[in-house]
Parts: sequence; C-alpha cells; structure tokens
Amino acid sequence: MIQVTKSFLPPLDSYIEYLKGIWERGQLTNHGPLVLELEKVLADYLQVKHVFFVTNGTMALQIAAKALGIQKKIITTPFSCVATTSAMVWEGVEPVFADINPKTFTISPTSIRAELTSEVEAILATHVYGNPCEIEALTEIAEEYEIPLIFDGAHAFGVDYKGKPLASYGDVTVLSFHATKIFHTIEGGALVTNNDAVAHKIGYMRNFGYNGPEDFFGIGINAKASEFQAAMGLSVFPYVDEIIEKRSKVVGFYQDRLFNSGLQMMQIQEGTTRVNHAYFPVLFSSEERLLAARSVLADKQIFPRRYFYPSLNRLNYVNNNLINDTSTDLSKRVLCLPLSPDLTEKDVNFISELIIQSGC
Ligand SMILES: Cc1ncc(COP(=O)(O)O)c(C=O)c1O
Repeated sequence: MIQVTKSFLPPLDSYIEYLKGIWERGQLTNHGPLVLELEKVLADYLQVKHVFFVTNGTMALQIAAKALGIQKKIITTPFSCVATTSAMVWEGVEPVFADINPKTFTISPTSIRAELTSEVEAILATHVYGNPCEIEALTEIAEEYEIPLIFDGAHAFGVDYKGKPLASYGDVTVLSFHATKIFHTIEGGALVTNNDAVAHKIGYMRNFGYNGPEDFFGIGINAKASEFQAAMGLSVFPYVDEIIEKRSKVVGFYQDRLFNSGLQMMQIQEGTTRVNHAYFPVLFSSEERLLAARSVLADKQIFPRRYFYPSLNRLNYVNNNLINDTSTDLSKRVLCLPLSPDLTEKDVNFISELIIQSGC
C-alpha cells in the first residue's frame, strides 16, 4: 500500500536518549528543558527572535488571531487546509476570501485589494504546499492599510525566500509540526515572530495567561507542548536536510515521467531560493479525469489525496463572497501524489504510468 505520505521516524536510539533525560528529571511538560532547547534550535534555524512551540498548528493560528487582537474579519485564502479558516471562525472571526493565482496557487494580491473593506483587521495568507506567497505585494497592502500580515506557514519549513527562511517574513508565521510534515514533533506547531510586543502576549496566552503562580496577565489558553513532543522534534531536526534531499529526488522522478502528460504542475514563486518538496500536487484537466485516475490508483492500493478539497469558501459555516473563483475550480482538479523519502523510481514510474493511462 502506498499512502500520500509517510511519517519520518528518527533512529529509535536518539529518541530513547532524550527519554532517559526526561525520566531522570521527572519533568514531563510545562516548558521543560527540551521544549526550551527546541525553541532555541528553531529560532536559530528560522533566523527569528521568537519561536513559541505549541500543541499544534491550529492552536497556533488561534493564538495568532488573539495576540494580534483580530475580532471581526480577516482576509484569507480559500485554497488551504480547513484549519486556516476553521481556526478563525472558532475564534469568532469572519473569513473574507480573496481568490488565488492559478499558477502558483497562492492568494492573489489583486483579489485582496478587491475584497478589502475597512472592517478587515488582518491578512492571513498560506504558503501553499510550501510555495511562498507574493510577499512584497502582501507586505505593501498590509502596510498601506495598517493591518498585520499573518502567514500560515504549516508547509513552509525548510523553504528559503530571497536567501532567508520563509518563516521569518510577516508579522507572525504559524507552523505545523504534525507527523506528516517535513519537520515534525508528532503533533505540534509554533508561532514565529520578530515583534517583541506580540511575542510578549503570545508567551502568556499559550500558558493560561499565567504571570507567576497566583497572577494573570490576561486571558490565555493551554497550548503547551510536552517534553515528549520536543524530544521527537530534537530527534527529527538533524535529518531535515536529508529528508528534503530525498524528497527532491522523488519529485525529480515524477517530473521526468509526467513531463508530457498534460498534467499542470505548480509554478514555484520567483525569488524562492530553496524549496522543500512538502507535497507533489498535479492539476488534471477536469474533475472527471482526476476521479478516474484516483480510482485506478486505489485499485492498486495507492492513495493520493485531494488536498485541498473543497475550496474553503464552500464550507457550510462561512459566507461565500467569491463566485466562479479559481480556488473552487482548482480544488476540484488538484491531486497530491504520494511523496515520501523512500519512494523508489520504480514506484514513481508505476504511479505515473497508471495516471497517464487513465487520461490526464
Ligand atoms: C496549511 C495548514 N494550516 C494549518 C494546519 C493545521 O496544523 P495542525 O494539524 O498542526 O493543527 C495544517 C495542517 O496540516 C495545514 O496544512
């Protein structure tokens, strides 16, 4: 069976070494030494001042909205994981959707300008599949309207834009360290920022708002990650380059094999200086063709994923402010093909052949 992805497991010995330390100290959570060590390792790697390691990326999105004081409306992309929108709605914030660029799959700055109103309090843009958003254009809009720019960088670990880690751009970047991600902590996520004032709030908010044992800074929630999650992160981190390198090879096999297939591939954003191959999305000419290919693959126990489907403006708990949008069209035609470091050239040839035979 070949699934869309496979979690990376570091050598068991390295995880056990960290576990021994946890057993010796007896501290399992509440910002223990492994959590602090991981935050430092990540801050260095991402070249940012503050990294807050939290329970998951969804919670990180919720805290980002709270820390930036977003209460009414946020402009965001309909082409993302459901968490990008659901986390906002959960916080009582209404998503206003801007359409996407059909080539890069990221939010369109032109569409943002068309949908912006004075009620919109922030921009929330996803680096889709690790492909950077149009950072300069989004920054310009955010500065012009004096609203914060939040990046959902759940897929962005290991990507560089103009020579700098992608997560270092924007007011706050949110990361997911879910088990399926390039870098993971089983479950986990982070808020990343260079803004001291925002960091100050996040620090309290992720720990019930505690300011000492008997005092509260303000409202907070429990977003603390455990020592066990940090141990996994510290064990996986040394392998990030190797993971990306191996994925790059697999993507190369797909690109060679599917070059003349008629499938459209994502255009990498200009200025990207390092890609992470977090996903391998392909665009079929129609939904019917996608469904036909998926069925042929499923017969052989190969399971790609319709990621992202449906377009988030079609969720039954949001107002759909976009009609005939690119995101809805693209969502119906996009399929993420299996991609993991240990997929062989033979596997890729087999998958590609089945897709080509089913008609693209
Ligand atoms: C783009 C995007 N945003 C947010 C999330 C939510 O992250 P988590 O699963 O860590 O809660 C995901 C999860 O995969 C995602 O892909």
